[in-house]
Amino acid sequence: MKVEYNEEKKLFHLYNKHLSYVIGILRNGHLGHFYLGKRLYGPLSEDLFRRDQGRAAMPYVYEGDMGFSLNLERQEYPSYGTTDFRSPAIDIIQKKGSRIVDFKYDLHRIIQGKPPLEGLPSTRVSNTKDAMTLEIDLVDMVLDLKLTLCYTVFPDLPVVARSVRLENMGLETFNIDRIMSLSIDLFDDNWEWTQLSGDWARERYLRSVALRPGIQSIGSLRGASSAQHNPFVMLKRPETREESGEAIGISLVYSGNFLLQGEVNSDGVTRLISGINPEGFSWNLKSKEVFQTPEAIIAYSGNGIGPLSRTFHDLFHLYLIPEKWQKSPRPVLINNWEATYFNFNEEKILSLAKSAKSLGIELFVLDDGWFGSRNNDTQGLGDWFVNTKKLPGGIAGIAEKIESMGMKFGLWIEPEMVNKDTEFFKCHPDWLIGDPKRTYSHQRNQYVLDFSRKEVVDAIFDQLTKVLDDVPISYIKWDMNRNITEPFSSSLTAEKQGELFHRYILGVYNLYERLINRYPDILFESCASGGGRFDPGLLYYAPQTWTSDNTDAIERLKIQYGTSMVYPISSMGSHVSAVPNHQVLREAPLKIRGDVAYFGTFGYELDLTILSEEEMSEIRKQVEFFKEYRSLIHHGSFYRLLSPFENSGNETAWMVVSKDRSEAIVGWYQILANANRGLFKLKLTGLDSKKMYQISDHKEPISGSILMDFGILMNPAHTGLDLDNSYGGDYQSRIWTIKAV
Ligand code: GLA
Repeated sequence: MKVEYNEEKKLFHLYNKHLSYVIGILRNGHLGHFYLGKRLYGPLSEDLFRRDQGRAAMPYVYEGDMGFSLNLERQEYPSYGTTDFRSPAIDIIQKKGSRIVDFKYDLHRIIQGKPPLEGLPSTRVSNTKDAMTLEIDLVDMVLDLKLTLCYTVFPDLPVVARSVRLENMGLETFNIDRIMSLSIDLFDDNWEWTQLSGDWARERYLRSVALRPGIQSIGSLRGASSAQHNPFVMLKRPETREESGEAIGISLVYSGNFLLQGEVNSDGVTRLISGINPEGFSWNLKSKEVFQTPEAIIAYSGNGIGPLSRTFHDLFHLYLIPEKWQKSPRPVLINNWEATYFNFNEEKILSLAKSAKSLGIELFVLDDGWFGSRNNDTQGLGDWFVNTKKLPGGIAGIAEKIESMGMKFGLWIEPEMVNKDTEFFKCHPDWLIGDPKRTYSHQRNQYVLDFSRKEVVDAIFDQLTKVLDDVPISYIKWDMNRNITEPFSSSLTAEKQGELFHRYILGVYNLYERLINRYPDILFESCASGGGRFDPGLLYYAPQTWTSDNTDAIERLKIQYGTSMVYPISSMGSHVSAVPNHQVLREAPLKIRGDVAYFGTFGYELDLTILSEEEMSEIRKQVEFFKEYRSLIHHGSFYRLLSPFENSGNETAWMVVSKDRSEAIVGWYQILANANRGLFKLKLTGLDSKKMYQISDHKEPISGSILMDFGILMNPAHTGLDLDNSYGGDYQSRIWTIKAV
């Protein structure tokens, strides 16, 4: 890993053994983007990557010089107004109304390690040897503004982490209308744009389209990263597959309104930009103030989308989530939500906990309904004190009883929200986001607290610490069940209203930061009506996220497969729930429910006290099995084998291989049975072709090369005469464990 600057050639080369990223200082002082891809060797110079072009019908920067137009340059951080007509990375409105900017190279620094981003989550290293950062200062002399572009490289991963700081060194006040975290101009447009889109209960479905001239984008204006579009996009070549071909991914480490945009120009150059959504955003930057953008990660793979995903998985696991949770095992949990909803008392909770304990479950999570007068979703949010009618001994009482059974205890909270029917709202009716002269829309009968205000965050922090200070709590599920409407803050002046959404998310990050500092051993799981805020911004604080409210095993195949494009399976909350399933009323066997949930953080969310002996004994075995393979599942490398988004979508398969390739676990799933199917096989990936492996349903060891190049031979499920065949019928699944011998 290194960052080199060649003074004579005016070139920066950031590289490690997998990747090169080359930036040049163009003749007008702007930065040119020269290369992102496989590691380059040998001398580098500008003429290898760009040439002057004298083209007709083109504006040029210098009088008498028909060779240099920004419209023809591939750039690092473009602006609008001087010969480039494409979408800019930055837009600053000045006192006289002008938006012309001209940021030119001034200085740079190469730093060992990675400085944190003020107030924002970002990738981090505990040892400065694990990263190198390049900071390039660009200055607009007319405006007295300094723009610092930051780039970090890590030793073993083909990624660059980018962010931007803008400092107002002069006396004038500016309005920043747009300030992207990342912009990059790729040489061509022969790419397919792949996004993760959906909605509540069907989050992160894979969608791909070929790039076309003009702009294509995804984003959010909801105040959260959203279930509709995840802040991730991948470009892949048409011929790219799981384990072959080029792919580029961008992931934004941010949980609020975002934009990810691709623009193809008439030469086929593709500009990707990513950052805070400029729609509705503006930031008032006074003299001496600094604005910090979120971080965006760009990753490259020359060997398929599988390695691209594994790069993000490793990056998030090693350099984003809290260090403690990189190694500590994630507990198998029981959550009472789908078992009881709001309708529980201490006796019910304790009987659920007792059954869970007898099955080997390690953590009891008390979900919504334990506080204030929360008996349905019209009440309670904001009153973060225990409802003693339900829990007479308080949270301390129930937590201690569960701890004394030998299980850990966890709690659900939704700190950003309020119901009107609460003491909290009566005391602070003016703390909502909204315009007092207009209607306040609701969602699930709740309103959004104005987290852009420090006093609001402080008040919630004080209430929560009163609950958490004296109670043995090991886990918190932090939920967020609605998006922001009527975006207006009574505490912001007119010129600062455009700051609300960003200030809101900074308030959320601030509360997370304060709670984590105070309770460093609590495991946080983020949630937003399921996976409505599943993003790297929150993974920085909460290493796991409730993937979806949809707990049906069949539906989860697409959701977990799509999510795995960028997020590690150790971050995906996945529970076995009851049948008929509460979201789709499907009756999938307990086996497939477990087999799907294993590939996540694993837990249960159903009433264990009403299950049959047979079901209890199957669950006991599932818990035992998961504990045995937990470390492999959470620390291994994830390989996708069959996609639920391709062919008929009837089969899905994936596997996890230990980093040393000595162990693996494979999951195969089939939705509907096939009549009279012939023999078929499942090709594995990621093993060592030269090693011999013992595979769970085979007597003799099989070589890695046979498992990968021929595959596991499978008997079709019988649908006819052989009624004893345990693999018959719909909703089939198989799990293989594999060990090198
Ligand atoms: C959201 C969450 C669920 C559950 C409920 C409680 O919908 O996604 O898991 O916690 O809220 O109200």
